[in-house]
Amino acid sequence: MAKIFSILNNKGGTGKTTTVLNLGTALAKKKKRVLLIDLDSQCNLTSALGLWGAENNLCDLFLGKCSINQSVKQHEEIFLLPASDKLLEAEFLISSEPGREYILKEKLEKILDEYDYILIDCPPSLGTLSINSLVAADYFIVPMQAENFAFIGLDRIMSVSEKIQKRMNPSLQLAGILFVKLATRTKFSQAVITNLTINEHFKDKLFSTYIRQDISLMESGAFKQSIFEYAPKSRGAEDYMDFANELIKKYGKK
Ligand SMILES: Nc1ncnc2c1ncn2[C@@H]1O[C@H](COP(=O)(O)OP(=O)(O)O)[C@@H](O)[C@H]1O
Ligand SMILES: [Mg+2]
Repeated sequence: MAKIFSILNNKGGTGKTTTVLNLGTALAKKKKRVLLIDLDSQCNLTSALGLWGAENNLCDLFLGKCSINQSVKQHEEIFLLPASDKLLEAEFLISSEPGREYILKEKLEKILDEYDYILIDCPPSLGTLSINSLVAADYFIVPMQAENFAFIGLDRIMSVSEKIQKRMNPSLQLAGILFVKLATRTKFSQAVITNLTINEHFKDKLFSTYIRQDISLMESGAFKQSIFEYAPKSRGAEDYMDFANELIKKYGKK
């Protein structure tokens, strides 16, 4: 049965989409069955997989206009539930529906046995769509930069996730914080990481893999390719493969 990971940070540009695409591709290269879900109306993940404008996208799924099997699309070794630029409208339309936070969970239940990992790319907000992802997920991963104000956002994410855990999804857990775009050598990023490693709440929640700053990761995004297609020998490819290995070791089938 699939393990579901929500990749979440209410700030934009923290590396959510890059992580979903490249972690997902790394897991697929390790022969895992992987489904990616694009919950962001900017459709960056969907575009990166060449599926922008797909019919029966998540918007249609949320509005009950198609089945989940009609929504799942394939791109090489990866499966995707594509987003649409109308997702925000869908979020508004479901806002008066009873149990609107449970829609994604309900849809995914039908296909859990078909995958090993489901990774959800969240929008940069903590609205109904992100809440749907946390209600459906087993774990969430917070990608962030080692910079000054990152922790303020983290407090907010933790308080929302604690409410969801208490009221809607008791098994939800923080899988970990993933440092992305890390300039490993700067004293400042070292200081931020040290700060977190002595924090009671987070010290056991830092992934040992860091995703280093890598221009190839930025370029691969612009060329709509995974790092494994664009620059298989880059630091980015190495780091995301290490991260996939760490995740499989911690959360894979025993
Ligand atoms: N490790 C990295 N090194 C350099 N640039 C990166 C790295 N990870 C992501 N980026 C770039 O940072 C920008 C934001 O990343 P993205 O994954 O789109 O963030 P989000 O989905 O959280 O908004 C993109 O231009 C992306 O290419
Ligand atoms: Mg994104």
